[in-house]
Amino acid sequence: MADTKVISVIQMKGGVGKTSCAVNLAAVLAKNFDQRVLLADFDPQTNATLSVMHEKDWLKWDRAHGTMAEVLGMEKEKKGEKASQNLKDYIVKDVCDRIPTLDLLPSHLKMTFIDTVLASQPGRERIFSRKLKKIKDQYDVIICDCPPSLMSVTQNALCASNYFLIPMQPDYLSTVGLKLVLDRVSYLKKSLQLSVRCLGVVFTRVRGYLNYHAITMEEVKNKSPFKKLHFFDTFIPENITLAEAPMQNLPINVYDSSAPAAYAFRALGAEVAGRLSLV
Ligand SMILES: Nc1ncnc2c1ncn2[C@@H]1O[C@H](COP(=O)(O)OP(=O)(O)OP(=O)(O)O)[C@@H](O)[C@H]1O
Ligand SMILES: [Mg+2]
Repeated sequence: MADTKVISVIQMKGGVGKTSCAVNLAAVLAKNFDQRVLLADFDPQTNATLSVMHEKDWLKWDRAHGTMAEVLGMEKEKKGEKASQNLKDYIVKDVCDRIPTLDLLPSHLKMTFIDTVLASQPGRERIFSRKLKKIKDQYDVIICDCPPSLMSVTQNALCASNYFLIPMQPDYLSTVGLKLVLDRVSYLKKSLQLSVRCLGVVFTRVRGYLNYHAITMEEVKNKSPFKKLHFFDTFIPENITLAEAPMQNLPINVYDSSAPAAYAFRALGAEVAGRLSLV
């Protein structure tokens, strides 16, 4: 039986590079490390989805099959249509032409209000992990892109995960944010009895020419609440190619494998593969 590693990419702060990390780490592990990878989009913003799939194809897929919204129990928008109970029916196989082992579970904007829909449902945090059981073995790694909150969709991702990965920008308010997210995950671990562990913190959007970023990265690592955390040696530099790649619905290692951020994601992939004994 495959020892599938499920990783949730989380952070309560918005715009820190969660989606960029989830998409590009998934793509690197599939393309450069020969892993069978599922990218699961839990964010109603659908950013991970549209980073690897053209909007037209996604709309077509939604009409024909459905998305994470139906997986988590929302009804099909067309009245009378029944949603499948099998997670595999929602997965887009080989979503990128040039990465044959990368699959996608797309998201949908209608999940914005899912907390209200699920509010009265017992066991609502475990819907995804229950459905995942049947197909988990087909993957070596599953990466969950989460919205900037720890509400019910993120809880669904965490319940299915062995690990969580925290991207953070090296600035003061992000340091405050790191403490908050660790505190809240520790609360969720107790209340939902989760065994999820921190895989590490990765610094993102780093501007190499800023002394302030270098100093903050060193300070954060040595701060008492964070001393036991793993910080990845690799950091993701600020690199406009990373923002351009989604316009072509491609991960950076396919869009421009010579870009600085593409090198960084390959190095991060190697660190992650090493920590998880993937290769
Ligand atoms: N290292 C980087 N260099 C340049 N642009 C970046 C970098 N990382 C992310 N971006 C861009 O910044 C924006 C926010 O990044 P991203 O979507 O990855 O953040 P996020 O944490 O997932 O945001 P949200 O909280 O809204 O889900 C995107 O347009 C992305 O392309
Ligand atoms: Mg995002």
